[in-house]
Amino acid sequence: MAHIVSVQEAQLALPQLALQRVPDFDKKKWAKYIEDIKKKPDPYTPGRYRGRGGFVLALDGSPIGMLNETFVQKENEAYPNISRKFAPLPDGFVVFLSSGNVISIFQIFQEFCRSRIRELDIHLIGICSNNTEVKVVPENSHQDGTDRVGILVIDRLNIEGGETQVARSKGGKPFFSEILEPGEMLMFDDRKYWHYVTPIKSISPEPGWRFVVVLTAKLYS
Ligand SMILES: [Fe+2]
Repeated sequence: MAHIVSVQEAQLALPQLALQRVPDFDKKKWAKYIEDIKKKPDPYTPGRYRGRGGFVLALDGSPIGMLNETFVQKENEAYPNISRKFAPLPDGFVVFLSSGNVISIFQIFQEFCRSRIRELDIHLIGICSNNTEVKVVPENSHQDGTDRVGILVIDRLNIEGGETQVARSKGGKPFFSEILEPGEMLMFDDRKYWHYVTPIKSISPEPGWRFVVVLTAKLYS
């Protein structure tokens, strides 16, 4: 017999996917962080630039510790169980994410996670193409090995491609497939879905860039 969900249960249930436009998103406010990240090459992936940081949060959302400096994804096909260390996030970036926009980026993600974030991992990533096709996701269709993921596109400069896809199985036909525009944030259940981003290529001889913030969360049960 089908399980009938009460109104209360439905309200408590965590959403599984949401696409949200950050209100009054202003690319200019992000410019100094973008310039910073362009000086921080990802030592593991050519063409990629990256800073990372993260926090352990109390149930009221206040930070009570820092995440480990080393980053490990057990199931990552390109870097299986490999400890990676990235440059730190730009100075002031965490404060900016929590207050530098009309509605804070953290607030949007916390609402999607129903304020249950226990570990918040923050990545600021730039991918550069110089007239060649560059893989945005070397590990192909994947899960991040966490509970919830948020991908906010900050900018797309002089590129084609970079379509964000979400599927119900590894390599399965995506049910969501869109080029996210600057200010659009896609959030989803990492345990239920697999995600992927198609390669990018610069349109003209100048370098092409795609900049994103990726937030991942492990939740309190
Ligand atoms: Fe991912």
